[in-house]
Amino acid sequence: MTVDPPIHLAQPEDADEIAAMSRELIEHGLPWGWRPARVLKAIRHPETNVAVVRAERELVAFGIMEYLESDAYLVLFAVAKAWQRKGVGSALLRWLEASAAVAGAQRIRLDTRRDNVAARTFYNELGYHEVVIQRGRYSEAVDGIRLEKWLRTAGGESP
Ligand SMILES: CC(C)(COP(=O)(O)OP(=O)(O)OC[C@H]1O[C@@H](n2cnc3c(N)ncnc32)[C@H](O)[C@@H]1OP(=O)(O)O)[C@@H](O)C(=O)NCCC(=O)NCCS
Repeated sequence: MTVDPPIHLAQPEDADEIAAMSRELIEHGLPWGWRPARVLKAIRHPETNVAVVRAERELVAFGIMEYLESDAYLVLFAVAKAWQRKGVGSALLRWLEASAAVAGAQRIRLDTRRDNVAARTFYNELGYHEVVIQRGRYSEAVDGIRLEKWLRTAGGESP
């Protein structure tokens, strides 16, 4: 079943839940880097887009994207377990991509754990290409993979 809950820019009061979701679904087994204060800073940062999907009072998904010159970097991205495989991640990522394109980004880059098969499959399905293995990216034992997607070429056309 595909669902389509609304996507919004995050508000300061979303910071605690985003940080908790990052700790549980993304940073498990690693030191907790995205604590509420850091998330709050991202929400308030003019060059960072923090988007959330909420269903009533529940945080369903979030994504944090930074804009850097002609690239955008997807810093964190997660969908709550109960909401996975319903199209929410695809909808949220497309929303962030559209926002990045409007902001002038040519390319989106991101890193994920090498052993995160679900994320790698998800990003591949959405048109992201794996460009390099990053040995020891997250810890001595946890490698990363860099992925990227071109939104348009340097000449301005869609790829
Ligand atoms: C990766 C993640 C964001 C996907 O979100 P989602 O809402 O479940 O994704 P969608 O429902 O839009 O899936 C789109 C497609 O991606 C692929 N996919 C998604 N989850 C998958 C999984 N667990 N295993 C294999 N393929 C998967 C499938 O091709 C899927 O299409 P299908 O369901 O029709 O087969 C989600 O599993 C998640 O939050 N994981 C934990 C946090 C994380 O790893 N974040 C990314 C790294 S920072």
